Amino acid sequence: MARRWAPDSWRSFTALQQPDWPDAGALEMALKQVAGFPPLVFAGEARSLQGSLAKVAAGNAFLLQAGDCAESFEEFSAVNIREKLRVILQMAVVLTYSMGVPVVKIGRMAGQFAKPRSSATEKIGDLELPSFRGHIVNDLLPTAAARIPNPERLVQAYHQSASTLNLLRAFTKGGFADLSRVTAWTQEFVASSPEGRRYEELSMEIERALQFMHACGVDTDSFPMLHEVDVYTSHEALILGYEEALTRQDSLTGQWYDCSAHMLWIGERTRQLDGAHVEFLRGVGNPLGCKVGPTTSPEWVLELCQVLNPARIPGRLTLISRMGADKVEDSLRPLLRAVKDADQPVVWACDPMHANTFTAPNGRKTRHFEDVVAEIAGFVRANKAEGTWPGGIHIELTGEDVTECTGGTDDLTQDDLDDRYETICDPRLNGRQSLDLAFRVAELIRAGA
Ligand code: TRP
Ligand code: MN
Repeated sequence: MARRWAPDSWRSFTALQQPDWPDAGALEMALKQVAGFPPLVFAGEARSLQGSLAKVAAGNAFLLQAGDCAESFEEFSAVNIREKLRVILQMAVVLTYSMGVPVVKIGRMAGQFAKPRSSATEKIGDLELPSFRGHIVNDLLPTAAARIPNPERLVQAYHQSASTLNLLRAFTKGGFADLSRVTAWTQEFVASSPEGRRYEELSMEIERALQFMHACGVDTDSFPMLHEVDVYTSHEALILGYEEALTRQDSLTGQWYDCSAHMLWIGERTRQLDGAHVEFLRGVGNPLGCKVGPTTSPEWVLELCQVLNPARIPGRLTLISRMGADKVEDSLRPLLRAVKDADQPVVWACDPMHANTFTAPNGRKTRHFEDVVAEIAGFVRANKAEGTWPGGIHIELTGEDVTECTGGTDDLTQDDLDDRYETICDPRLNGRQSLDLAFRVAELIRAGA
């Protein structure tokens, strides 16, 4: 029954969304180089993430997966990484405190470089150019030369991932994420806003609770869990040559792991059951995600579960629903029911971003904050109706004060989009909108929407 699998067995399947590398020799050299580099994550870390996700699957924890749509080679700095981490920590604190369950934190960070595109070319003005496929492949500049896929970018993506992960590890284990600093994560532009003040109140309650425990004689210093946090990494496993080059055999278990990130997901456009992406990921031991859109049938989802998680390991598979605010309830319920009836222990997460994107009259791609909230509300209602756990959210955000999504308490309008529209791909929630969202999500889940 079990078909043979190897890190390169995907090569005899159809791989969609792969760049047209013009120079096969240069590609081979770059991949060889990456294959010789140390792994970015350990198998043991991927296993502990899977254990945490198993708690989410059982309804005892919540998943927060968040970060850039696409990381950029140009916007690569300590400040950028720190600001993103701040927002994620703030959201995690709000969710943990308000929901009373542990929050599993996964960044779309340290490797989220590759973008699937609906068309091989795009029109910019009068120019027809090869599509931008993310900085791991080509450059955003609108010239023919910049759009040629360049394999040296695979090597650069590895190095940027390594330094991002290094800083993440330093921040999360070295004091920055200490719960006693919960107020210090607020950025200036957030502090005076309504959600900033709400956060300040909540963080003061947490600090008082910690002081109270201390006054009662609990030696809070001696509990590392109050001072450190696990933030895992994830990205869409799109460029399979790169993923293969970082796939290593775990010396403890003999199992293969894709050591480019803790968790990998399959996108809506590359999730063919007989395609190369599913083939590659079924063989690695990492926890996996798969996006599911409104055209997904219950039969297809059950087959996917069977292929990616035949042993029904809880936490192995996260299904990330991206239906659209108006469709989510009707489209999701049959899937929730089928998976539940088949006893597949998956995590259900909601990506409220990708099916709510539209182009404003000024040509900017955007999303409205209330559509994002509405999709999560529908997701929560669907789960409540089917008796399943709305396990988490998958969000595109940045720590910066950008104007890419409309709405929120500062009520950004379509006219504001030009002010600070900095994304190289999809529109992201800014720091204020993200914090606001965390409060709204906690309320929705507590109320059952
Ligand atoms: N380690 C705990 C957790 O991850 C508590 C914690 C410490 C925490 N620092 C944090 C929670 C920052 C959220 C954000 O849940
Ligand atoms: Mn995106």
